[in-house]
Amino acid sequence: TERTLSIIKPDATKRNLTGKINAKFEDAGLRIVAQKRLHLTKAQAGKFYEVHAERPFYDELCEFMASGPVVAQVLEGEGAIAKNREVMGATNPADAAAGTIRAEFAESVGENSVHGSDAAETAKEEISFFFSGLEIVG
Ligand code: GTP
Ligand code: MG
Repeated sequence: TERTLSIIKPDATKRNLTGKINAKFEDAGLRIVAQKRLHLTKAQAGKFYEVHAERPFYDELCEFMASGPVVAQVLEGEGAIAKNREVMGATNPADAAAGTIRAEFAESVGENSVHGSDAAETAKEEISFFFSGLEIVG
């Protein structure tokens, strides 16, 4: 089985949506095998999103990710990376399919409630950014 890194973003923790979002993951057959709530500094958010450093929205993105608590989690399941992205929906909630997390909860293309790794290699890197092996219990 595959693992992916998920983040419930500050816009969602602020609106007390952690449980509703986790229910979407679990209903889709994804298992939450690690989870913690933390408040990133802007520098930590910048490091996590380093791949986007040249994008025009980078500063805004880092500011947002440090604006409140996040919940970092490892999701496990068959095809977890793709399945998670399916449950999340498109980056822009206006384009997200009905029933997806972003269609139901996201506020804008920036404040879009969740992050999910986009490939096997990034999943591995992103999981180890937040968790040690001991903290992941499958
Ligand atoms: P992640 O799972 O968060 O990586 O989302 P994604 O893979 O669907 O989108 P992408 O990797 O292209 O962008 C990363 C994040 O940057 C998005 O989730 C948004 O929070 C933010 N972002 C993307 N495009 C824009 C934009 O045009 N404006 C702003 N403010 N933020 C954006
Ligand atoms: Mg991405």
